[in-house]
This record gives sequence, C-alpha cells and structure tokens, in this order.
Amino acid sequence: MEDSASARSYLKMPVVLLFGSQFLASIALFLAALPAYLSFADEMPTMPVILVVQGGMAGVIGLAMGLSKWWIPVQIALPFGAFYSTSLQVPAWLWLVFLVLAGLVYRNSGREGVPLYLSNRTTWTALADMLPQTQGLKIIDIGGGIGGTALFLARQRPDAEVLSVESAPIPAVLAKLRGALSGLKNVTMVYGDFWKQDLDGYQVAYAFLSPVPMERLYKKVRAEMKPGSLFISNSFEVPGVEADQVVELNDSRQTKLYLWRN
Ligand SMILES: C[S@@+](CC[C@H](N)C(=O)[O-])C[C@H]1O[C@@H](n2cnc3c(N)ncnc32)[C@H](O)[C@@H]1O
Repeated sequence: MEDSASARSYLKMPVVLLFGSQFLASIALFLAALPAYLSFADEMPTMPVILVVQGGMAGVIGLAMGLSKWWIPVQIALPFGAFYSTSLQVPAWLWLVFLVLAGLVYRNSGREGVPLYLSNRTTWTALADMLPQTQGLKIIDIGGGIGGTALFLARQRPDAEVLSVESAPIPAVLAKLRGALSGLKNVTMVYGDFWKQDLDGYQVAYAFLSPVPMERLYKKVRAEMKPGSLFISNSFEVPGVEADQVVELNDSRQTKLYLWRN
C-alpha cells in the first residue's frame, strides 16, 4: 500500500509529467503523421511546424495530467531545444556552462531526490488560511526554493516570522534577492541544509519535497517541534503515518495538503 502511494506521488512530480507528456505526444504525433506521410509524402510540414505541434500536444497532455499552465512554454521549447541542439554545432563549453547552471539549480535532485518546482498561488492561499491565528507565529518553509511561499505568507501575516531554508545555490540567491527587494522585515531567506536547521520554536512547518525524505523529515519534526505545532506536506505523504487532515485543493494539479499536528 505504502509503496503504491509513494509510486503515485512520484508520478505526480512535474519532471515525470513533463517527460511523460512529451513521450505521449510523440507517440500520438507519430500515429497521426504516419498515414499522412504515406499518402502525402511530398507535402509534409516543415520541422519547426512538427516541433510546435509536438510541444503544443505535450502542453495539452501535461495540463490534463495536472501540470500548471506555465509549463506550456517549457513544453513547446523542449522539442526545439532537443532537436536544434543536436543539429547545430553547439560548442562543448556551452554544454559545460549549462550543466553547471543546472547543477546549481537542481543540486538536490540527485542528492535528496528533491528537484525544484514551485507551490502555486492556490496553495499559498490555502496555507495562509490554515495558519493558526496566534500572534507572533513562527513559520518555516523547509526547502524554500526561490522564496515565493515564504514571501506570500510573510505578506499575509505581518505579525508572523517566516523562514525559508534552501540549499541549492541559485534558488537560494534568488530567494535572498527577493527577500531583500520585498522590504519585508518578517521574512528571512537562509542558504543552508534544512537537516541542520533546528525546528524547535516553529509552530508551522511547510514542505513540498518528494517521497524520498518524508519518513526522515517526519521523525525530525516529531523530535524537534513542540506539541500543538503543525506540519504540512504538499503532495507527499509520510509512509505509515496517516495524516490528521487532508485538504484537496481546486487547482489544475488537484494538490493535496497533508496535515499532521504534533
Ligand atoms: C519542490 S521545491 C519547493 C520550493 C518551495 N518550498 C515551494 O513550495 O515553492 C523543494 C526545494 O527543496 C530544496 N531542498 C531539497 N533538499 C534540501 C535540503 N536538504 N536543504 C535545503 N533545501 C533543500 C530543493 O533544492 C528545492 O528547491
């Protein structure tokens, strides 16, 4: 049961949906193009048209599978990137730069099984509604990405202190910049490993990670957060520990928020 729930969670990860929808679109395109090619081989569309159709179909399939709308331009760009990068003479150093940049953004994909993808506005609003009304609340976004969730919560709750902890360098720098530019005094963006962050004193912890760290993270939450505090996980359950509450959101990916009270 737990294994199948964990497998289902993996299937909802944006990177899986992204490549899954590209794969399904390429099959659909091949099946649709084959009869056309056999009968009108001279009038086949040009490669850019084929790539746009592939990307567009993947965009629609991805949307139906639960990806947010902002993935559509990525879906359209992906086949172009894949095709032209092999046919153009891209210098080797450019690949190296790209690889290093990708590493600085997605550092935790391999290490922690947690890539960067972002909570959407519907989730932010639901989170803000779930916060206890206690004054001086301390909230932490565990793996804060580029800081959007922390900034939103800090704006909604000027009486609260919000901390975002992120260990992938580029997202962490972006979060710090956004925090500084926001002018908000009640938000702190930290570049660091959340495993080393003491959770004692936080009344609310939010995480949008992956199935991989959930069991270990829940143990940390239980050990460090005070009784009565709230742990909220976007999309990913804790194996073997039923959530006290599950809130299903009305967004395109039908986000589920799992809540545990310490
Ligand atoms: C899916 S993103 C969520 C971002 C943000 N919380 C949101 O909801 O928009 C998860 C983030 O956790 C970060 N992460 C993973 N393991 C981490 C660790 N040990 N310490 C700090 N950040 C980590 C990843 O780099 C990634 O940016």
